[in-house]
Amino acid sequence: MSNIAVDIYSTLLSSTVMICFGFCYGITILYGSRLVLNKTISIGDLVAFTGYIDLFFTPLFWLPGIISKIERAIISYHRLEKVFNLEKENLKLEGISNNERIHGDISIKNLTFNYPGNMDIILDNISIDIKEGETLGIIGTIGSGKTTLMNLLLRLYQVQDGKIFINNTDINNIELAKLRNSVSYITQDNFLFSTTIKDNISLFRENFEDSEIEESTEKSMISDDIGNMKNGIYTVIGERGIDLSGGQKQRVVISRAFLNKSNIVIFDDTFSALDNKTEKLLLENIKELVKGKTCIIISNRISDIKDANNIIVLDKGKIIEQGTHLELLKNNGLYNKFYNQQSSRDEDSILN
Ligand SMILES: Nc1ncnc2c1ncn2[C@@H]1O[C@H](COP(=O)(O)OP(=O)(O)O)[C@@H](O)[C@H]1O
Ligand SMILES: [Mg+2]
Repeated sequence: MSNIAVDIYSTLLSSTVMICFGFCYGITILYGSRLVLNKTISIGDLVAFTGYIDLFFTPLFWLPGIISKIERAIISYHRLEKVFNLEKENLKLEGISNNERIHGDISIKNLTFNYPGNMDIILDNISIDIKEGETLGIIGTIGSGKTTLMNLLLRLYQVQDGKIFINNTDINNIELAKLRNSVSYITQDNFLFSTTIKDNISLFRENFEDSEIEESTEKSMISDDIGNMKNGIYTVIGERGIDLSGGQKQRVVISRAFLNKSNIVIFDDTFSALDNKTEKLLLENIKELVKGKTCIIISNRISDIKDANNIIVLDKGKIIEQGTHLELLKNNGLYNKFYNQQSSRDEDSILN
């Protein structure tokens, strides 16, 4: 049964109990008054009887709430059961040395993808080549498939053989632990655990010194904010710790990229909550970080991707434009439209 069905049944049940209660009370008062007037029972008997009706119905009023709680618990149990029964991915995330990490050109060949059990084509005949050490910028409308493409690169979903290659090896033939260890994927959802900043950046791996964590927070422009906190990188954030602003959360998450030694770095919409000044300084540090590494920056801000070696514009799962910033500006397409919209917005913010 779904949550909505549980709500419907418990509302119906509580309404029925209410109606029965009103009905019994009404009959008791009407019929009881007559008996009192006829002197068959005393007024005390009538009051006592209405009290019994209250006693009888009070547990019934609780019943719909209890049933709905039990139903919800059963639904949650089934959901958890699904998670517990998932097949474990064979991941040995520790212990991959720098030499073992994969690197090289990334090549995507005529990739078409739909999510399992859903016939909608999410990516339509995508071909991309990223040379080792170069940066690819991806810009596109919401829902155009940017995150899906990254999920496939990390093999979070199964992709056909012969579609995605790193260093000429089909990613389906690369050991999963090696693949995931070689790619630093900074996601758009800023997921933070309710624990210390240190554990949030190191992701609970214990082989990092405090100084390394602090260095990564400096590069991601969050060290001043952390310096103002009483416990520094040991400050607990989240539910029982301090709350961070959207921009601060993004910068904590971005610190992970500076800490990891991956050869491939992906930023998926991770700069959206940063103010212009922080973003500019951070981008300089990121340029330093990705020197010699392969980098993919997904952003809808032209300023984040304009220096990339190659930029692709995605729309409804298709690559509709491709080139450098200057080449794309010459095309009178979507990129140019984004550029004009954003430059007029920037001018407005300078004028105001
Ligand atoms: N797990 C999923 N199952 C089915 N459809 C999905 C799933 N994740 C995303 N989609 C759909 O795929 C499309 C592309 O999503 P996404 O890759 O997140 O876009 P973008 O990152 O460009 O905003 C959207 O229409 C979205 O609704
Ligand atoms: Mg996305």
